[in-house]
Amino acid sequence: MRRVGPAVLAVLVAAAGLVGCSDDAAPQARSEPRPSAETTRPAPTDGVDGGDGVGDPYFPQAGNSGYQVERYDLVMDVRIAGPDRLDATATITLVPTEDLRSFHLDLLGFEVSKVTVDDADATFARDGREMVVTPERQLSEGDTTTVVVAYSGSPGRTGSSSPAGGLIGDGGWVDLGDDWSTVIAEPIGAATWFPSNDHPSDKAIVNVTATVPAGLEAVAGGRLVERTDAADRSTFRWEAAEPMSPYLASLTVGDMQLSEKDGPAGIRILDGVPARRPELLDGALSRFPEMITFFGQRFGPYPFRDAGNVIVPGLEPVALETQTRSVHSESILEPALGTLPDEVTAHELTHQWFGDAVGPADWSMIWLNEGFATYGEWLWLEHIGGRTVMESARAAHDGDPDLNVPPAAPGVGQLFGRTVYQRGGMFLVELGRLLGQPTFDQLLTTWVDQHRFGVATTEQFVALAVEVAGPDKGAQVTALADAWLHAERIPELTP
Ligand code: TRP
Ligand code: ZN
Repeated sequence: MRRVGPAVLAVLVAAAGLVGCSDDAAPQARSEPRPSAETTRPAPTDGVDGGDGVGDPYFPQAGNSGYQVERYDLVMDVRIAGPDRLDATATITLVPTEDLRSFHLDLLGFEVSKVTVDDADATFARDGREMVVTPERQLSEGDTTTVVVAYSGSPGRTGSSSPAGGLIGDGGWVDLGDDWSTVIAEPIGAATWFPSNDHPSDKAIVNVTATVPAGLEAVAGGRLVERTDAADRSTFRWEAAEPMSPYLASLTVGDMQLSEKDGPAGIRILDGVPARRPELLDGALSRFPEMITFFGQRFGPYPFRDAGNVIVPGLEPVALETQTRSVHSESILEPALGTLPDEVTAHELTHQWFGDAVGPADWSMIWLNEGFATYGEWLWLEHIGGRTVMESARAAHDGDPDLNVPPAAPGVGQLFGRTVYQRGGMFLVELGRLLGQPTFDQLLTTWVDQHRFGVATTEQFVALAVEVAGPDKGAQVTALADAWLHAERIPELTP
Protein backbone atom coordinates (compact mmCIF):
# COMPACT_ATOMS: atom_id res chain seq x y z
CA MET A 1 0.00 0.00 0.00
CA ARG A 2 1.21 3.42 -0.84
CA ARG A 3 0.63 6.35 1.45
CA VAL A 4 0.17 9.38 -0.65
CA GLY A 5 1.66 12.70 0.31
CA PRO A 6 1.51 15.95 -1.59
CA ALA A 7 4.71 15.19 -3.48
CA VAL A 8 3.34 12.02 -5.02
CA LEU A 9 0.06 13.64 -5.88
CA ALA A 10 1.77 16.51 -7.59
CA VAL A 11 3.21 13.96 -9.99
CA LEU A 12 -0.22 12.48 -10.59
CA VAL A 13 -1.50 15.75 -11.87
CA ALA A 14 -0.27 15.13 -15.40
CA ALA A 15 -2.38 16.94 -17.96
CA ALA A 16 -5.40 16.99 -15.74
CA GLY A 17 -5.65 20.73 -15.65
CA LEU A 18 -6.61 20.63 -19.31
CA VAL A 19 -9.39 18.12 -18.90
CA GLY A 20 -12.98 18.91 -18.13
CA CYS A 21 -12.56 22.61 -18.57
CA SER A 22 -16.03 24.06 -18.63
CA ASP A 23 -15.35 26.15 -21.70
CA ASP A 24 -15.23 23.06 -23.94
CA ALA A 25 -18.93 22.89 -24.23
CA ALA A 26 -19.59 26.55 -24.78
CA PRO A 27 -22.37 26.85 -27.31
CA GLN A 28 -21.90 28.82 -30.48
CA ALA A 29 -24.23 31.51 -29.28
CA ARG A 30 -21.59 32.54 -26.85
CA SER A 31 -19.26 34.01 -29.45
CA GLU A 32 -21.98 36.07 -31.11
CA PRO A 33 -21.93 39.64 -29.95
CA ARG A 34 -25.07 40.21 -27.98
CA PRO A 35 -27.24 42.83 -29.66
CA SER A 36 -28.10 45.83 -27.58
CA ALA A 37 -31.61 46.08 -26.23
CA GLU A 38 -32.79 48.61 -28.85
CA THR A 39 -31.84 46.52 -31.86
CA THR A 40 -33.03 43.19 -30.48
CA ARG A 41 -35.97 41.65 -32.21
CA PRO A 42 -38.22 40.27 -29.51
CA ALA A 43 -36.84 36.90 -28.55
CA PRO A 44 -39.16 34.00 -29.20
CA THR A 45 -41.32 33.38 -26.16
CA ASP A 46 -43.22 30.30 -27.17
CA GLY A 47 -41.12 28.15 -24.84
CA VAL A 48 -42.52 26.70 -21.65
CA ASP A 49 -41.61 27.31 -18.05
CA GLY A 50 -39.70 24.33 -16.69
CA GLY A 51 -41.38 22.55 -13.80
CA ASP A 52 -40.32 22.30 -10.16
CA GLY A 53 -40.25 18.49 -10.03
CA VAL A 54 -39.92 15.37 -12.12
CA GLY A 55 -43.02 13.72 -10.72
CA ASP A 56 -41.42 11.68 -7.97
CA PRO A 57 -44.28 10.15 -5.96
CA TYR A 58 -42.47 10.70 -2.62
CA PHE A 59 -40.69 13.99 -3.26
CA PRO A 60 -42.74 16.03 -5.73
CA GLN A 61 -40.24 18.91 -5.67
CA ALA A 62 -37.14 16.78 -6.14
CA GLY A 63 -35.48 17.50 -9.45
CA ASN A 64 -36.94 19.73 -12.13
CA SER A 65 -38.44 19.22 -15.55
CA GLY A 66 -37.34 20.62 -18.90
CA TYR A 67 -33.66 19.72 -19.07
CA GLN A 68 -30.98 17.15 -18.34
CA VAL A 69 -27.64 18.05 -16.80
CA GLU A 70 -24.43 16.78 -18.37
CA ARG A 71 -21.93 18.19 -15.94
CA TYR A 72 -21.53 20.12 -12.72
CA ASP A 73 -18.20 21.81 -12.18
CA LEU A 74 -18.14 22.94 -8.58
CA VAL A 75 -15.41 25.23 -7.34
CA MET A 76 -15.66 26.04 -3.65
CA ASP A 77 -13.74 27.67 -0.92
CA VAL A 78 -14.67 25.93 2.30
CA ARG A 79 -14.47 27.76 5.59
CA ILE A 80 -14.62 25.09 8.20
CA ALA A 81 -13.87 26.83 11.50
CA GLY A 82 -17.06 28.08 13.08
CA PRO A 83 -20.24 27.52 11.10
CA ASP A 84 -19.19 26.04 7.77
CA ARG A 85 -19.32 28.48 4.93
CA LEU A 86 -18.94 28.02 1.19
CA ASP A 87 -17.92 30.58 -1.37
CA ALA A 88 -18.71 28.73 -4.51
CA THR A 89 -19.32 28.76 -8.21
CA ALA A 90 -21.28 26.01 -9.90
CA THR A 91 -20.91 25.73 -13.65
CA ILE A 92 -23.72 23.57 -14.92
CA THR A 93 -23.76 22.22 -18.44
CA LEU A 94 -27.29 21.23 -19.34
CA VAL A 95 -29.39 20.34 -22.36
CA PRO A 96 -33.00 21.52 -22.52
CA THR A 97 -35.51 18.84 -23.41
CA GLU A 98 -38.04 21.51 -24.40
CA ASP A 99 -37.82 25.14 -25.46
CA LEU A 100 -37.58 26.87 -22.10
CA ARG A 101 -38.58 30.35 -21.07
CA SER A 102 -37.45 29.58 -17.54
CA PHE A 103 -36.20 26.60 -15.55
CA HIS A 104 -35.66 25.52 -11.97
CA LEU A 105 -32.63 24.42 -9.99
CA ASP A 106 -32.79 22.92 -6.51
CA LEU A 107 -30.83 24.91 -3.95
CA LEU A 108 -31.38 25.34 -0.22
CA GLY A 109 -29.94 28.17 1.81
CA PHE A 110 -27.04 30.39 0.70
CA GLU A 111 -27.04 33.79 -0.89
CA VAL A 112 -26.98 33.66 -4.66
CA SER A 113 -25.07 36.63 -5.98
CA LYS A 114 -25.21 35.99 -9.70
CA VAL A 115 -26.61 33.62 -12.29
CA THR A 116 -25.53 33.65 -15.91
CA VAL A 117 -26.84 31.59 -18.79
CA ASP A 118 -24.44 31.33 -21.71
CA ASP A 119 -22.56 34.29 -20.29
CA ALA A 120 -25.57 36.58 -20.13
CA ASP A 121 -26.95 37.70 -16.78
CA ALA A 122 -30.13 35.89 -15.91
CA THR A 123 -32.77 36.84 -13.40
CA PHE A 124 -33.59 34.42 -10.64
CA ALA A 125 -36.09 34.03 -7.85
CA ARG A 126 -35.94 31.72 -4.88
CA ASP A 127 -38.60 29.91 -2.92
CA GLY A 128 -37.61 27.17 -0.49
CA ARG A 129 -35.54 24.62 -2.38
CA GLU A 130 -36.58 25.99 -5.76
CA MET A 131 -34.60 28.59 -7.67
CA VAL A 132 -36.30 29.77 -10.86
CA VAL A 133 -33.90 31.07 -13.49
CA THR A 134 -35.15 33.21 -16.33
CA PRO A 135 -32.50 33.68 -18.99
CA GLU A 136 -32.33 36.74 -21.19
CA ARG A 137 -33.23 34.59 -24.20
CA GLN A 138 -35.20 31.42 -24.08
CA LEU A 139 -33.35 28.14 -24.34
CA SER A 140 -33.82 25.85 -27.29
CA GLU A 141 -34.43 22.16 -26.96
CA GLY A 142 -31.25 20.23 -27.57
CA ASP A 143 -28.86 23.21 -27.37
CA THR A 144 -26.13 22.68 -24.80
CA THR A 145 -26.35 25.55 -22.32
CA THR A 146 -23.92 26.73 -19.66
CA VAL A 147 -25.38 28.04 -16.43
CA VAL A 148 -23.12 29.59 -13.83
CA VAL A 149 -24.35 30.15 -10.30
CA ALA A 150 -22.24 32.11 -7.80
CA TYR A 151 -23.35 31.45 -4.24
CA SER A 152 -22.08 31.69 -0.73
CA GLY A 153 -23.12 31.19 2.85
CA SER A 154 -23.69 28.36 5.25
CA PRO A 155 -25.06 25.11 3.88
CA GLY A 156 -28.52 24.31 5.15
CA ARG A 157 -30.30 21.07 5.97
CA THR A 158 -33.14 19.62 3.96
CA GLY A 159 -35.47 19.86 6.89
CA SER A 160 -37.18 16.75 5.56
CA SER A 161 -39.28 15.39 8.38
CA SER A 162 -38.66 11.74 7.61
CA PRO A 163 -39.78 9.56 10.52
CA ALA A 164 -36.45 7.81 10.08
CA GLY A 165 -35.09 10.83 11.92
CA GLY A 166 -31.53 12.01 12.16
CA LEU A 167 -29.40 12.19 9.08
CA ILE A 168 -31.20 9.37 7.34
CA GLY A 169 -33.90 11.23 5.53
CA ASP A 170 -32.40 14.62 6.25
CA GLY A 171 -29.01 14.15 4.66
CA GLY A 172 -26.89 16.82 3.05
CA TRP A 173 -23.91 18.88 4.04
CA VAL A 174 -22.96 18.06 7.64
CA ASP A 175 -21.00 20.56 9.72
CA LEU A 176 -18.91 18.49 12.13
CA GLY A 177 -17.24 21.20 14.11
CA ASP A 178 -14.09 23.15 13.51
CA ASP A 179 -12.11 20.73 11.40
CA TRP A 180 -14.45 18.23 9.78
CA SER A 181 -17.38 18.32 7.42
CA THR A 182 -18.93 15.81 5.07
CA VAL A 183 -21.81 15.38 2.65
CA ILE A 184 -24.25 12.49 2.85
CA ALA A 185 -27.13 13.71 0.76
CA GLU A 186 -29.62 10.87 0.31
CA PRO A 187 -32.38 11.36 -0.65
CA ILE A 188 -32.77 15.08 -1.44
CA GLY A 189 -29.75 16.75 0.13
CA ALA A 190 -27.63 17.61 -2.91
CA ALA A 191 -29.47 20.93 -2.85
CA THR A 192 -27.78 21.70 0.50
CA TRP A 193 -24.41 22.18 -1.19
CA PHE A 194 -24.86 22.88 -4.90
CA PRO A 195 -27.59 24.02 -7.28
CA SER A 196 -28.72 20.84 -8.96
CA ASN A 197 -31.37 18.79 -10.62
CA ASP A 198 -31.67 16.88 -7.38
CA HIS A 199 -33.29 13.62 -8.44
CA PRO A 200 -31.67 10.22 -9.08
CA SER A 201 -32.96 10.14 -12.66
CA ASP A 202 -30.70 12.94 -13.89
CA LYS A 203 -27.14 11.66 -13.82
CA ALA A 204 -24.25 13.94 -14.63
CA ILE A 205 -20.52 14.21 -14.16
CA VAL A 206 -19.76 16.00 -10.90
CA ASN A 207 -16.28 17.51 -10.59
CA VAL A 208 -15.36 19.20 -7.34
CA THR A 209 -12.53 21.64 -6.73
CA ALA A 210 -12.28 22.49 -3.06
CA THR A 211 -9.98 24.91 -1.26
CA VAL A 212 -9.53 24.20 2.44
CA PRO A 213 -7.25 25.44 5.22
CA ALA A 214 -3.69 24.10 5.12
CA GLY A 215 -3.28 20.85 7.01
CA LEU A 216 -6.70 19.52 6.02
CA GLU A 217 -7.59 17.27 3.10
CA ALA A 218 -10.66 17.48 0.88
CA VAL A 219 -11.91 14.20 -0.58
CA ALA A 220 -14.68 13.83 -3.16
CA GLY A 221 -15.62 11.04 -5.54
CA GLY A 222 -13.62 10.13 -8.64
CA ARG A 223 -9.94 10.84 -9.04
CA LEU A 224 -7.71 13.43 -7.44
CA VAL A 225 -6.16 15.04 -10.49
CA GLU A 226 -4.56 18.09 -8.98
CA ARG A 227 -3.47 19.32 -5.63
CA THR A 228 -1.82 22.61 -4.87
CA ASP A 229 -0.56 23.66 -1.49
CA ALA A 230 -0.13 27.28 -0.51
CA ALA A 231 1.09 28.50 2.87
CA ASP A 232 -2.36 28.77 4.36
CA ARG A 233 -4.56 26.63 2.13
CA SER A 234 -4.68 23.65 -0.17
CA THR A 235 -6.78 23.12 -3.26
CA PHE A 236 -7.95 19.69 -4.39
CA ARG A 237 -9.45 18.99 -7.79
CA TRP A 238 -11.50 15.80 -8.12
CA GLU A 239 -12.79 14.53 -11.43
CA ALA A 240 -15.38 11.85 -11.96
CA ALA A 241 -15.16 9.53 -14.96
CA GLU A 242 -18.80 8.44 -14.83
CA PRO A 243 -22.08 10.29 -14.37
CA MET A 244 -23.83 10.17 -11.01
CA SER A 245 -27.12 11.09 -9.39
CA PRO A 246 -26.62 14.35 -7.48
CA TYR A 247 -27.30 12.72 -4.09
CA LEU A 248 -24.27 10.48 -4.65
CA ALA A 249 -21.84 13.38 -4.96
CA SER A 250 -19.85 14.11 -1.83
CA LEU A 251 -17.06 16.11 -0.27
CA THR A 252 -15.36 15.41 3.05
CA VAL A 253 -13.00 17.90 4.64
CA GLY A 254 -10.84 16.94 7.59
CA ASP A 255 -7.51 16.00 9.06
CA MET A 256 -7.16 12.83 7.01
CA GLN A 257 -4.56 10.37 6.01
CA LEU A 258 -5.03 9.44 2.36
CA SER A 259 -3.97 6.11 0.98
CA GLU A 260 -3.91 5.34 -2.70
CA LYS A 261 -3.24 1.97 -4.26
CA ASP A 262 -3.94 -0.14 -7.32
CA GLY A 263 -6.97 -2.35 -6.87
CA PRO A 264 -8.11 -5.32 -8.94
CA ALA A 265 -8.83 -4.97 -12.66
CA GLY A 266 -7.08 -1.62 -13.03
CA ILE A 267 -9.33 0.10 -10.50
CA ARG A 268 -7.67 2.84 -8.49
CA ILE A 269 -8.46 2.77 -4.78
CA LEU A 270 -8.20 5.86 -2.61
CA ASP A 271 -9.21 5.77 1.03
CA GLY A 272 -9.27 8.59 3.55
CA VAL A 273 -9.22 7.93 7.28
CA PRO A 274 -8.81 10.23 10.28
CA ALA A 275 -5.09 11.01 10.53
CA ARG A 276 -5.07 9.79 14.12
CA ARG A 277 -6.49 6.39 13.06
CA PRO A 278 -4.19 5.15 10.27
CA GLU A 279 -4.71 1.59 11.49
CA LEU A 280 -8.21 1.67 9.99
CA LEU A 281 -6.57 1.26 6.59
CA ASP A 282 -5.24 -2.11 7.61
CA GLY A 283 -8.27 -2.96 9.74
CA ALA A 284 -11.79 -2.07 8.67
CA LEU A 285 -10.70 -1.40 5.09
CA SER A 286 -8.13 -4.14 4.63
CA ARG A 287 -10.37 -6.56 2.72
CA PHE A 288 -11.91 -3.93 0.47
CA PRO A 289 -9.90 -4.89 -2.67
CA GLU A 290 -10.86 -8.52 -2.14
CA MET A 291 -14.51 -7.47 -1.87
CA ILE A 292 -14.30 -5.73 -5.24
CA THR A 293 -13.09 -8.97 -6.78
CA PHE A 294 -15.69 -11.09 -5.00
CA PHE A 295 -18.65 -8.92 -5.95
CA GLY A 296 -17.25 -8.56 -9.46
CA GLN A 297 -17.66 -12.30 -9.85
CA ARG A 298 -21.30 -12.14 -8.80
CA PHE A 299 -22.51 -8.81 -10.20
CA GLY A 300 -20.21 -8.28 -13.18
CA PRO A 301 -17.21 -5.94 -13.36
CA TYR A 302 -17.00 -3.12 -10.82
CA PRO A 303 -18.72 -0.32 -12.75
CA PHE A 304 -16.36 2.62 -12.14
CA ARG A 305 -12.75 3.69 -12.71
CA ASP A 306 -12.21 4.66 -9.07
CA ALA A 307 -13.09 3.17 -5.70
CA GLY A 308 -12.52 3.76 -2.02
CA ASN A 309 -13.89 4.82 1.33
CA VAL A 310 -13.84 7.84 3.56
CA ILE A 311 -14.11 7.48 7.32
CA VAL A 312 -15.46 10.45 9.21
CA PRO A 313 -15.34 11.02 12.97
CA GLY A 314 -17.97 12.78 15.04
CA LEU A 315 -20.90 11.47 13.06
CA GLU A 316 -23.78 9.28 14.21
CA PRO A 317 -23.50 5.66 13.00
CA VAL A 318 -24.33 5.99 9.31
CA ALA A 319 -22.75 5.19 5.98
CA LEU A 320 -23.64 6.29 2.47
CA GLU A 321 -22.71 4.80 -0.88
CA THR A 322 -21.44 8.05 -2.39
CA GLN A 323 -20.36 7.19 -5.91
CA THR A 324 -16.93 5.59 -6.22
CA ARG A 325 -16.04 6.44 -2.61
CA SER A 326 -18.49 5.60 0.18
CA VAL A 327 -18.60 7.66 3.35
CA HIS A 328 -18.67 5.81 6.68
CA SER A 329 -18.86 7.31 10.12
CA GLU A 330 -16.04 6.17 12.36
CA SER A 331 -18.73 5.09 14.83
CA ILE A 332 -20.44 2.65 12.45
CA LEU A 333 -17.19 0.75 12.07
CA GLU A 334 -16.81 0.19 15.79
CA PRO A 335 -17.21 -3.53 16.50
CA ALA A 336 -19.07 -2.64 19.69
CA LEU A 337 -22.05 -1.73 17.58
CA GLY A 338 -22.84 -5.36 16.88
CA THR A 339 -22.23 -5.12 13.15
CA LEU A 340 -18.98 -6.34 11.68
CA PRO A 341 -17.09 -3.48 10.02
CA ASP A 342 -17.03 -5.71 6.94
CA GLU A 343 -20.80 -5.84 6.88
CA VAL A 344 -21.02 -2.11 6.38
CA THR A 345 -18.22 -1.76 3.85
CA ALA A 346 -19.64 -4.71 1.87
CA HIS A 347 -23.10 -3.12 1.96
CA GLU A 348 -21.85 0.22 0.64
CA LEU A 349 -19.65 -1.44 -1.96
CA THR A 350 -22.60 -3.48 -3.26
CA HIS A 351 -24.43 -0.20 -3.74
CA GLN A 352 -21.81 0.83 -6.30
CA TRP A 353 -23.51 -1.66 -8.66
CA PHE A 354 -27.03 -1.37 -7.24
CA GLY A 355 -28.02 2.18 -6.41
CA ASP A 356 -25.09 3.95 -8.03
CA ALA A 357 -24.38 2.39 -11.46
CA VAL A 358 -28.07 1.42 -11.70
CA GLY A 359 -30.26 3.88 -9.85
CA PRO A 360 -33.94 3.79 -8.89
CA ALA A 361 -36.20 5.56 -11.41
CA ASP A 362 -37.91 7.22 -8.47
CA TRP A 363 -37.71 7.05 -4.68
CA SER A 364 -40.56 4.56 -4.31
CA MET A 365 -38.20 1.99 -5.85
CA ILE A 366 -35.57 2.34 -3.14
CA TRP A 367 -35.59 -1.42 -2.54
CA LEU A 368 -33.61 -1.71 -5.79
CA ASN A 369 -30.81 -0.05 -3.79
CA GLU A 370 -31.24 -1.31 -0.25
CA GLY A 371 -32.56 -4.83 -0.87
CA PHE A 372 -29.60 -5.54 -3.12
CA ALA A 373 -27.06 -3.98 -0.75
CA THR A 374 -28.44 -6.10 2.08
CA TYR A 375 -28.16 -9.17 -0.12
CA GLY A 376 -24.53 -8.23 -0.92
CA GLU A 377 -23.81 -7.90 2.79
CA TRP A 378 -25.19 -11.42 3.35
CA LEU A 379 -23.14 -12.81 0.45
CA TRP A 380 -19.94 -11.41 1.90
CA LEU A 381 -20.64 -12.73 5.40
CA GLU A 382 -21.14 -16.20 3.95
CA HIS A 383 -17.99 -15.85 1.86
CA ILE A 384 -15.83 -15.10 4.89
CA GLY A 385 -17.22 -18.05 6.81
CA GLY A 386 -19.88 -16.28 8.84
CA ARG A 387 -23.62 -16.89 8.65
CA THR A 388 -24.88 -18.38 5.42
CA VAL A 389 -27.12 -16.25 3.24
CA MET A 390 -30.10 -18.39 4.29
CA GLU A 391 -29.22 -17.93 7.96
CA SER A 392 -29.02 -14.17 7.53
CA ALA A 393 -32.37 -14.12 5.76
CA ARG A 394 -33.96 -16.24 8.48
CA ALA A 395 -32.50 -14.19 11.30
CA ALA A 396 -33.99 -11.07 9.74
CA HIS A 397 -37.34 -12.67 8.91
CA ASP A 398 -38.74 -13.98 12.09
CA GLY A 399 -40.70 -11.88 14.52
CA ASP A 400 -40.21 -8.48 12.92
CA PRO A 401 -43.58 -6.70 12.59
CA ASP A 402 -42.00 -3.91 10.53
CA LEU A 403 -41.69 -6.29 7.62
CA ASN A 404 -45.42 -6.33 6.88
CA VAL A 405 -44.96 -3.39 4.52
CA PRO A 406 -44.42 -3.94 0.78
CA PRO A 407 -40.77 -3.14 -0.07
CA ALA A 408 -41.69 -1.95 -3.56
CA ALA A 409 -44.13 0.63 -2.15
CA PRO A 410 -42.94 1.39 1.38
CA GLY A 411 -44.31 4.93 1.54
CA VAL A 412 -42.06 7.90 2.24
CA GLY A 413 -42.22 7.23 5.99
CA GLN A 414 -40.58 3.81 5.51
CA LEU A 415 -38.18 4.91 2.77
CA PHE A 416 -35.27 3.51 4.73
CA GLY A 417 -37.37 1.17 6.83
CA ARG A 418 -36.39 -2.40 7.58
CA THR A 419 -38.72 -3.86 4.99
CA VAL A 420 -36.87 -2.10 2.18
CA TYR A 421 -33.56 -3.56 3.35
CA GLN A 422 -34.42 -6.94 4.84
CA ARG A 423 -37.51 -8.04 2.97
CA GLY A 424 -35.97 -6.69 -0.25
CA GLY A 425 -32.91 -8.85 0.44
CA MET A 426 -35.08 -11.88 1.22
CA PHE A 427 -36.84 -11.56 -2.12
CA LEU A 428 -33.47 -11.83 -3.86
CA VAL A 429 -32.56 -14.88 -1.78
CA GLU A 430 -35.85 -16.56 -2.74
CA LEU A 431 -35.44 -15.57 -6.37
CA GLY A 432 -31.91 -17.01 -6.36
CA ARG A 433 -33.25 -20.29 -5.02
CA LEU A 434 -35.95 -20.43 -7.67
CA LEU A 435 -33.63 -19.62 -10.58
CA GLY A 436 -30.52 -21.43 -9.44
CA GLN A 437 -27.23 -19.61 -9.00
CA PRO A 438 -25.96 -19.47 -12.60
CA THR A 439 -29.23 -18.02 -13.89
CA PHE A 440 -29.55 -15.65 -10.92
CA ASP A 441 -26.00 -14.38 -11.47
CA GLN A 442 -26.83 -13.90 -15.12
CA LEU A 443 -29.87 -11.86 -14.07
CA LEU A 444 -27.79 -9.56 -11.86
CA THR A 445 -24.98 -9.03 -14.36
CA THR A 446 -27.45 -8.41 -17.20
CA TRP A 447 -29.34 -5.94 -15.01
CA VAL A 448 -26.21 -3.88 -14.37
CA ASP A 449 -25.12 -4.19 -17.97
CA GLN A 450 -28.44 -2.97 -19.35
CA HIS A 451 -28.89 -0.02 -17.02
CA ARG A 452 -25.37 1.06 -16.10
CA PHE A 453 -25.20 4.86 -15.63
CA GLY A 454 -28.96 5.07 -15.81
CA VAL A 455 -31.99 4.35 -13.67
CA ALA A 456 -34.51 1.54 -13.82
CA THR A 457 -37.81 0.40 -12.34
CA THR A 458 -39.02 -2.50 -10.22
CA GLU A 459 -41.19 -3.54 -13.14
CA GLN A 460 -38.13 -3.76 -15.40
CA PHE A 461 -36.31 -5.90 -12.88
CA VAL A 462 -39.18 -8.34 -12.55
CA ALA A 463 -39.61 -8.43 -16.34
CA LEU A 464 -35.93 -9.26 -16.79
CA ALA A 465 -36.17 -11.96 -14.12
CA VAL A 466 -39.16 -13.49 -15.93
CA GLU A 467 -37.20 -13.39 -19.17
CA VAL A 468 -34.06 -15.09 -17.87
CA ALA A 469 -36.17 -17.60 -15.93
CA GLY A 470 -37.57 -18.99 -19.18
CA PRO A 471 -41.09 -20.11 -20.01
CA ASP A 472 -41.46 -22.80 -17.39
CA LYS A 473 -40.49 -20.58 -14.44
CA GLY A 474 -41.75 -17.16 -15.56
CA ALA A 475 -45.09 -17.44 -13.79
CA GLN A 476 -43.41 -18.48 -10.57
CA VAL A 477 -41.13 -15.43 -10.74
CA THR A 478 -44.15 -13.17 -11.12
CA ALA A 479 -45.88 -14.82 -8.18
CA LEU A 480 -42.75 -14.51 -6.06
CA ALA A 481 -42.38 -10.82 -6.89
CA ASP A 482 -46.05 -10.16 -6.09
CA ALA A 483 -45.78 -11.86 -2.73
CA TRP A 484 -42.42 -10.44 -1.65
CA LEU A 485 -42.43 -6.98 -3.19
CA HIS A 486 -46.04 -5.91 -3.47
CA ALA A 487 -48.16 -7.72 -0.87
CA GLU A 488 -48.57 -6.25 2.57
CA ARG A 489 -47.92 -9.38 4.62
CA ILE A 490 -44.48 -10.90 4.45
CA PRO A 491 -44.49 -14.46 3.06
CA GLU A 492 -42.76 -17.38 4.76
CA LEU A 493 -39.24 -18.15 3.62
CA THR A 494 -38.82 -21.42 1.73
CA PRO A 495 -37.72 -23.91 4.39
N1 TRP B 1 -28.22 4.46 1.79
C1 TRP B 1 -27.72 4.39 3.13
C2 TRP B 1 -27.34 2.91 3.33
O1 TRP B 1 -26.35 2.48 2.90
C3 TRP B 1 -28.68 4.84 4.17
C4 TRP B 1 -29.01 6.30 4.14
C5 TRP B 1 -30.11 6.88 3.64
C6 TRP B 1 -28.23 7.37 4.64
N2 TRP B 1 -30.07 8.23 3.78
C7 TRP B 1 -28.94 8.56 4.40
C8 TRP B 1 -27.03 7.42 5.28
C9 TRP B 1 -28.42 9.80 4.77
C10 TRP B 1 -26.54 8.64 5.65
C11 TRP B 1 -27.23 9.80 5.41
O2 TRP B 1 -28.09 2.11 3.78
ZN1 ZN C 1 -27.74 0.85 1.85
